[in-house]
Amino acid sequence: MSQATLKIGFVGAGAIHFGRPEVPWDHASRLEKIGGLEVIGIVDPDTCRSEEVLNERLASPDHGHIYANCRLLTDYRELLGMKPDVVFIGIPPAYRGSPKEGKNLELEFARAGIHVFVEKPLSLVPPEEFTPYAGAVADACRTNNIVLSVGYMFRYHAAVLKMKELIAQHGGKVMAFNARYYFAYTEGVNKYWFNTEFSGGPIVEQATHFCDLARYIVGDIDMTSLHTIMLNDTDKGDAGKLMYVADKAEDDIPANKRIPRVTLSHWRFQDSGLGTLMHSVTLPGSRYQATIDVQLDGLQLSLIDPYESTSVLRVRNLKGGNPNQDQDFVFENDDTYLRELETFIKAVRQRNQSLIKSSYEDAMKTYELTWAIRRQGEVKI
Ligand SMILES: NC(=O)c1ccc[n+]([C@@H]2O[C@H](COP(=O)([O-])OP(=O)(O)OC[C@H]3O[C@@H](n4cnc5c(N)ncnc54)[C@H](O)[C@@H]3O)[C@@H](O)[C@H]2O)c1
Repeated sequence: MSQATLKIGFVGAGAIHFGRPEVPWDHASRLEKIGGLEVIGIVDPDTCRSEEVLNERLASPDHGHIYANCRLLTDYRELLGMKPDVVFIGIPPAYRGSPKEGKNLELEFARAGIHVFVEKPLSLVPPEEFTPYAGAVADACRTNNIVLSVGYMFRYHAAVLKMKELIAQHGGKVMAFNARYYFAYTEGVNKYWFNTEFSGGPIVEQATHFCDLARYIVGDIDMTSLHTIMLNDTDKGDAGKLMYVADKAEDDIPANKRIPRVTLSHWRFQDSGLGTLMHSVTLPGSRYQATIDVQLDGLQLSLIDPYESTSVLRVRNLKGGNPNQDQDFVFENDDTYLRELETFIKAVRQRNQSLIKSSYEDAMKTYELTWAIRRQGEVKI
């Protein structure tokens, strides 16, 4: 039986939806692969950008037809009026995730009965202000039987799924979780990442994926145990000075709004051992480096470079194998974005929120964690 074509709208014509040469993300090309849909609107006030991406897509001999009836819009309310089945919201958090009129996109789409895929971070406003809004969004989804997914794609990564499987097989509690996420900052940067006021800073905006994995792999965190220190641009001794910021992206940002160069945080899990996170802005080029080590009694799992097309899960296991030898599980061309979006589209077709690994309510807890880390480390000026 053929499936009905889903009508889709994009809010944001930026990199997350339509890519950029140096980044691995691009929701449109994954959705084109999945098929069974047509794009009816792209909303972006930057009409040069939206025109450019639409023309590129229309030129594709394989997928151009998906965009044949696509309209370019400048306000999300125009898209709302067109009643798509599904909306993808991928704009910076300063323009969404807020109870303020014009920024409450998630709520408006959910109340209109439109399924929502929204990017991380959920918001930019402090959690106290955001929580009632998040509750209203979750209520609207339940009332209207709407599927909502938040873009924590690593929850769908084959290596992360394997980690969870091996931990369950081994049994026992995680004793230590250690995430390292190093931002490569000298090429192809997005200027808004450098301004804490606009992006929320590197923990809220970027390391949020690794805070989310801490919660997904191990469990919730005892917030009272959290401790953070940061190295800033203005710290004595000048160790925090960055010399190679691409495109002068920081020149017009006041020193106290510049992102921390190093963030170190640690905590106790509510029902497991201890966790640490280190984020730094140091690496040359555009290739980020990320590693997560998870240790249980007699088991170590290291997830190496989940952002790369080939990533490795290195396992040292007391049970079954040489306890002194590493066993590598190699994941070649694992497309975690594709798996995330396939799951979302399937959930929409079945109206089955339970297939989604990252709901708004769950992502809210990750948002709170990233804010707690940030607040703990920021020097009050
Ligand atoms: N999950 C991931 O791996 C991942 C990767 C990249 C970005 N993101 C997230 O996606 C979001 C967007 O990031 P990006 O890299 O695409 O940014 P971007 O700067 O490349 O593009 C953002 C676009 O949004 C447009 N925009 C701004 N306000 C708008 C509004 N009110 N309505 C419609 N369009 C508007 C801008 O004109 C711009 O074209 C961010 O929250 C980011 O954290 C997630």
